[in-house]
Order: sequence, then structure tokens, then C-alpha cells
Amino acid sequence: MTDSNTQIRLATPQDKEAVTRVMQEAGLETEAALADGTTYWVLEQGGKPVGAIGLEHGDGASLLRGAAVLPSVRGKGLGRQLIMSAIQYAQGRGDRAIYMFSKGGDWSNFGFQQVPLAVVMGEVPNAPQIRAYQARSERPGGTTWMRNLSVGASKA
Ligand SMILES: CC(C)(COP(=O)(O)OP(=O)(O)OC[C@H]1O[C@@H](n2cnc3c(N)ncnc32)[C@H](O)[C@@H]1OP(=O)(O)O)[C@@H](O)C(=O)NCCC(=O)NCCS
Repeated sequence: MTDSNTQIRLATPQDKEAVTRVMQEAGLETEAALADGTTYWVLEQGGKPVGAIGLEHGDGASLLRGAAVLPSVRGKGLGRQLIMSAIQYAQGRGDRAIYMFSKGGDWSNFGFQQVPLAVVMGEVPNAPQIRAYQARSERPGGTTWMRNLSVGASKA
């Protein structure tokens, strides 16, 4: 929960259209969103979807996917709440780290550090987003990031 008008809730298969629309409006790819082995959340304001985020789960690690807040409601802390709730969930399932790709932005804001692409490919090789790239014979562009979730890791 965030406030009485704004809530973050788990996405169900019925939310796929809303989640993909929000991700598209935020300029993100939506291929394999809500695939098996993933957990997604919807951020709603006044009952309308204005944000989304997902985790693609691997063995002891997850790939953060589709962090999206509609442009009209950005800069108010909603993205941080979405990202922190996904991080908490990953910690709860016992992940040692979360990985992600970004095309811009400084994710050290959220406790991430840059890592080589090979690290992500090795840690979550079966993540739907990675398999989608492989099916197209492409490699993810941009920057690759890791947030260490081990006990004692610094929190942002
Ligand atoms: C990234 C995004 C979800 C942030 O949403 P938001 O509601 O504006 O975020 P907040 O208001 O909670 O801001 C949180 C922090 O993120 C920073 N930030 C803003 N855009 C960012 C971006 N693209 N990447 C990294 N950090 C970003 C802000 O500077 C802010 O830092 P601060 O808390 O130190 O001031 C939103 O800008 C978005 O949807 N971007 C397009 C999609 C995208 O690039 N997603 C990430 C790749 S999966």
C-alpha cells in the first residue's frame, strides 16, 4: 500500500493488458511479460493502472523487468516504491541478487552497481527477457546492473 488512493498489488493474468500498456507507454519492451516463473505488480491510482514492475525468477536470483510509471505521475516517489517492493519480495524468496538492464538512468540510486553483461547472462540464463533476446539472436543493449541482497549488503 502507498496511500488510500494509490496501491501496489500483485498482478494476475487478467492484468496483462494493463501491465503491457503501462510498460509500452513508458517506452519498454513487453515481450514475454507475465510469462511463467515471473511475478508482476500493478500500481493503481484511483483504481487506474499508472505503473508496473516485474521480476523474472531464476535459481536464487531474479531479473527486474519493466519498471514503469506513466510520465504524468513520475517524480513523486512512485517508481521508488515499486522498485523497493520488488526488492523486498526478492529478499523474501531468498534471492542473493537482483539483476536488470537499463537503457539510461543511474540505478545506483536504487542500490545497484554496474556488472558485465556476462554476469547477468550466467546468473539468470532462463529469464524470459533473456530468452526473448536469444530467440531474436540479439544481445541486450544499454547497461547491466546488479543489486546484492546478501545479508550485510548496503541498502539504498
Ligand atoms: C524509472 C521510473 C519507473 C521512475 O519512476 P518515478 O515515479 O519517476 O520515480 P521516483 O519519483 O520514485 O524517483 C526515484 C528516483 O529515480 C530516479 N530516476 C528517475 N528516472 C530514472 C531512470 N530512468 N533510471 C534510474 N533512475 C531514475 C530519480 O532521480 C529519483 O531519484 P531520487 O529518489 O534520488 O530523487 C520512470 O522514470 C519510468 O517509468 N521510466 C521509463 C521506463 C524505464 O526506463 N524503466 C527502467 C528500466 S526497466
